[in-house]
Amino acid sequence: MTEYQVIDSADTVLRDGTIKLHGPDAFEGMRRAGRLAADILDAMAPLVKPGVSTAELDDIVREMTLAGGAVPATLGYRGYTHSCCISINHVICHGIPSEKILKDGDIVNIDVTPLLDGWHGDTSRMYLVGDVPLKARKLVDVTHECLMLGIEQVKPGARLGDIGAVIEAHARAHRYTTVREFCGHGLGRLFHDAPEVIHAAKAGTGPELKPGMFFTIEPMINAGKPWAKVLSDGWTAVSRDKSLSAQFEHSLGVTETGVEIFTKSQRGLDKPPYS
Ligand code: MF3
Ligand code: CO
Ligand code: CO
Repeated sequence: MTEYQVIDSADTVLRDGTIKLHGPDAFEGMRRAGRLAADILDAMAPLVKPGVSTAELDDIVREMTLAGGAVPATLGYRGYTHSCCISINHVICHGIPSEKILKDGDIVNIDVTPLLDGWHGDTSRMYLVGDVPLKARKLVDVTHECLMLGIEQVKPGARLGDIGAVIEAHARAHRYTTVREFCGHGLGRLFHDAPEVIHAAKAGTGPELKPGMFFTIEPMINAGKPWAKVLSDGWTAVSRDKSLSAQFEHSLGVTETGVEIFTKSQRGLDKPPYS
């Protein structure tokens, strides 16, 4: 049985499996964190180009996060020591910034989570490095469509499974696959909280969506088989068959009538091409 918990923004919030229902102050907190997260991803657009290292991009994410009055939630999270995740080509998610240099034709996901005044703004976008082959651009486009179709399902009375149903159907229609090992998640004062948002689900199943719920939708879509494995660094998740993988993520809140996306770009830079 799903349990919901109405929380006041001043409450101590526990990771107790309950789905939190938030009020107006929490929406305002998420709006601010989400806007900063989106601004950081906007700023990355001109910087993601051949020759830049992922560590350099991570440095800029950290500086922008701190300049915005926030801290990167990933820094020190379960032993993670970077300010964002940067996942290239067949890396599905949780790529660790390093001296690795981006090269022409790469597709890259940057995933940031500023923690601002106690609220988490978790979002990621894909970037195209130089000239990217049509096949890879198609995967990126369809993955963004998957995210937006999922978001369209969000309104009071819908079920969580409705989201994963449309995502999986859209991926499948393009002969892509949906990664099962990683999910979206509740968030707010906590980075990762209930519920789990499954990206390949059955319509009409799962918890009912209620006003005040906050969660992410972050589909990972593979051009080949859906199978993932985590490398020996304990973080980097790759497609087992080395096929290309793409992901977009938004943080959102369920409103009385539908959905509010907290991490939308203020400049219309939600998906490539960015120029
Ligand atoms: N931002 C990721 C998410 O979407 C989580 C990254 S945790 C890290 O949930 F430690 F790998 F950074
Ligand atoms: Co997330
Ligand atoms: Co994220």
